[in-house]
Amino acid sequence: MSREEALRVEDLKVYYMTEKGYVRAVDEVSFNLSKGESLAIVGESGSGKSTLGMTLIRALPKNASIVSGRAYIFGDEILSISLQDFRRKFSWRLISMVFQGAMNSLNPVLKVGDQVAEPLIYSGGLPKEEARRRATETIETVGLPREFYNRYPHELSGGMKQRIVIAMALVMNPQILILDEPTSALDVTIQAQIINLIKDLIDKLGLSVIFITHDLALASDIADRIMVMYGGQIMELGSTDRVLGEGPKHPYTEKLLSSIPRLRGEGMPDFIPGRPPDLSSPPPGCRFHPRCPYVFDRCMKEEPPLFNINSTHLVKCWLRGD
Ligand SMILES: Nc1ncnc2c1ncn2[C@@H]1O[C@H](COP(=O)(O)OP(=O)(O)OP(=O)(O)O)[C@@H](O)[C@H]1O
Ligand code: SF4
Ligand SMILES: [Mg+2]
Repeated sequence: MSREEALRVEDLKVYYMTEKGYVRAVDEVSFNLSKGESLAIVGESGSGKSTLGMTLIRALPKNASIVSGRAYIFGDEILSISLQDFRRKFSWRLISMVFQGAMNSLNPVLKVGDQVAEPLIYSGGLPKEEARRRATETIETVGLPREFYNRYPHELSGGMKQRIVIAMALVMNPQILILDEPTSALDVTIQAQIINLIKDLIDKLGLSVIFITHDLALASDIADRIMVMYGGQIMELGSTDRVLGEGPKHPYTEKLLSSIPRLRGEGMPDFIPGRPPDLSSPPPGCRFHPRCPYVFDRCMKEEPPLFNINSTHLVKCWLRGD
């Protein structure tokens, strides 16, 4: 039996207006997320990962616009409704996000517990005492002692701060949690602890998670499915077993995989030559063509569609279809 669909995104285009013209940060992106599923969004800097996350919680900067597309949370469309309705019905209670670098933006003069309680008071309308009680419970849910409510950010390590920002996102019991590079500022041991916490939360709370990272190794550790983005577009989307177990089917994913440092064995990691595209004037045809080792004539002229290489594995490359 297929699992209930928590989120569906259809043909989403989000552009930024800049002095150089439109930056096509997210371009024709479609995917879904089931209840209790974890999806990793992986790609180099500038591939559109954070823009996609911010679109889904309606927190885009002023110069961004949703050019087209729809997104549904448990069947309800969330991009065409007013911001006020979105905040009333969806923010925090159905979908929330731990922003990239959030642990460094905690308010230094407020107790962390009061910061966790804030959404309950301002968005949930709870009285202070009740909010305090619920925030304390959530602090325990993320593996910190309840006394941490009264600490200030400077009294916490990086890993503890990250747990606090996760608690803040969870305090109103959302169904969908977006985590944007939640471990990139942490050392490897702490990173593993946070990953284990997120896995526990998925199991215990039945959360649906979008885990944004530039690190394919980390993605493979946490995600049921992997979506590889490049230049604002999906390059490959499939189960972790298919994309990594059987080997990537897109040249960009292949490059990402071979750029992971290995502990033992075969020599130095590969680096990906060239730079990600300028999204105010992306290359014609396949956006990866200037960096692709397999490029051929058609790639420079025609943009490949996302080919279905089986019902659950999509690849945007001319080598995989037609
Ligand atoms: N406020 C903004 N105004 C104009 N362009 C922006 C803005 N924010 C992001 N961009 C551009 O949009 C594109 C996608 O950026 P985004 O931050 O979504 O990528 P990302 O995959 O999250 O990158 P990173 O891994 O560095 O966090 C990039 O080309 C970026 O320069
Ligand atoms: S379409 Fe061509 S350039 Fe693009 S990834 Fe495939 S082979 Fe490389
Ligand atoms: Mg980002």
